[in-house]
Amino acid sequence: MLSEAEQNKLKQEAANQAAKQLVSGMTLGVGTGSTVKYFIDALTRRRDEDGLSLAAIVTTSNRSKEALQAKGFKVSGLSDVELLDLTVDGADRVDRHLDGIKGGGGALTMEKNVATYSRHCTWIVDESKVVDHLSGFPLPVEVLRNTCEHLYRKFADENLEPEFRKDADGRRFMTHYGNYIIDLHVDPIPVPAGLALWLDTTVGVVEHGLFLNVADKVIIAHEDGHIETRT
Ligand code: 5RP
Repeated sequence: MLSEAEQNKLKQEAANQAAKQLVSGMTLGVGTGSTVKYFIDALTRRRDEDGLSLAAIVTTSNRSKEALQAKGFKVSGLSDVELLDLTVDGADRVDRHLDGIKGGGGALTMEKNVATYSRHCTWIVDESKVVDHLSGFPLPVEVLRNTCEHLYRKFADENLEPEFRKDADGRRFMTHYGNYIIDLHVDPIPVPAGLALWLDTTVGVVEHGLFLNVADKVIIAHEDGHIETRT
């Protein structure tokens, strides 16, 4: 088991590697989370040291938007850009098909939108996130507040072990869009595509954290120091 400091070092290495693939003129999607924070640092260094100049940057959360603006980047809205060239984001779990669980930070809805409207999507992870089958992390489901109690019961009836996500004050966590998140403790997820389809067609579900066929590259920083790229 990695210590937090070791894990952070790996996150930073994966982020630095991802920043190497950026070229001037690109339109870029920037995800959310602690690994992405290192990516924003690496992006800033590329601008300051290599003169990298991106055509547009779109983010998946206000957190990343503010972090980029603090470094002097201009941030556009997703609708202002036709199709992003690349999105770089973190992930909570990634399997050998490059499918993943995302939404640990609660930004899953915009993360899926930005990735969907990108030609390419790279995830940056440390090796602790890599699994054979999607497992080891609760599956976030963003739900409308009006419908949430019905959905909670529906998930419980399906033995999906639902739990409302709480914020630091013990209140229900609220997303950027004013919705709640129900985390499903289904571990491992036996048939991710089946569950994704069911959630996609369940009224009141705004978005879920199963990101299937979304990433086309995953950069994994390993404890032994090597950086692996899977495509
Ligand atoms: C936020 C996400 C993040 O990408 C995911 O939680 C990984 O975060 P971190 O890099 O902090 O481990 O999906 O909604």
